[in-house]
Amino acid sequence: MRKNVSIFDTLDELSTAAAEEILRIATFSIEEHGAFRISLAGGSTLRRLYQVLASAQYRSRTNWAAWSVYWGDERLVPLSHPDSNYGMARKSLLAHVPIDENNVHPVPVSLGDGWLIADEYEHILRETTGTPTNGVPALDLVLLGLGRDGHTASLFPGNPAVDETECLVVETAPGSLPPLVERITATLPLLNAAGHIVFLVTGEDKAEAFRSAYRGVPLGEVAQVPAYLVRPVDGSVHWFITRDTASKCSAW
Ligand code: 6PG
Repeated sequence: MRKNVSIFDTLDELSTAAAEEILRIATFSIEEHGAFRISLAGGSTLRRLYQVLASAQYRSRTNWAAWSVYWGDERLVPLSHPDSNYGMARKSLLAHVPIDENNVHPVPVSLGDGWLIADEYEHILRETTGTPTNGVPALDLVLLGLGRDGHTASLFPGNPAVDETECLVVETAPGSLPPLVERITATLPLLNAAGHIVFLVTGEDKAEAFRSAYRGVPLGEVAQVPAYLVRPVDGSVHWFITRDTASKCSAW
């Protein structure tokens, strides 16, 4: 697994650099297999990146018709709810670009029970990526944020979802950070099948979590934070962080 870090002074600089990296991966993926399969994340850090991708100087630089969009996690609220990750991505990116709506795959939160939603989303992932029933879809790029408790997607420390080895998508209880709602999350088998993982992290309040996620050192009582376990077998991990997030890593 290839791992690297890019450090920036501001979130805007970070988001612009991450947008360039995403377009690079998209171009490569489309040239290589005619499609670009990306999984989005929620949170305020990712929202700025989506706005950059939707901006005039970026939205004309990729073939949106070749994009297929998934979510690495979702809150179990209506897609129109202010806490919906789909809703946030729709408002900040998808509503502003000529993407093929048949290739946008929100988590089917209207199905009701969490386990049913997770099971159906796993089916959607396999079916829309042409993956055999017992296979694991290899998304080209998974975007992830990092919580100050070391969670990523909705894999919260101590939650059984972190240890899941069979299911690709599971329901999870609320973590300790808002919004305190039930969620659906990709599990490590799905995340670690990705070609590229890109984390976006900003803020001094994430510095301890970043050090644990990058170096695998404990965070309080947590021996290994979930974000450290995102280690794609044949893929790369690229951290886009701001200088304050790096402040606890003495090497920087
Ligand atoms: C979610 C996200 C979550 C988020 C991190 C960082 O549904 O909440 O997927 O993993 O990316 O909590 O969020 P912030 O960027 O808002 O700190």
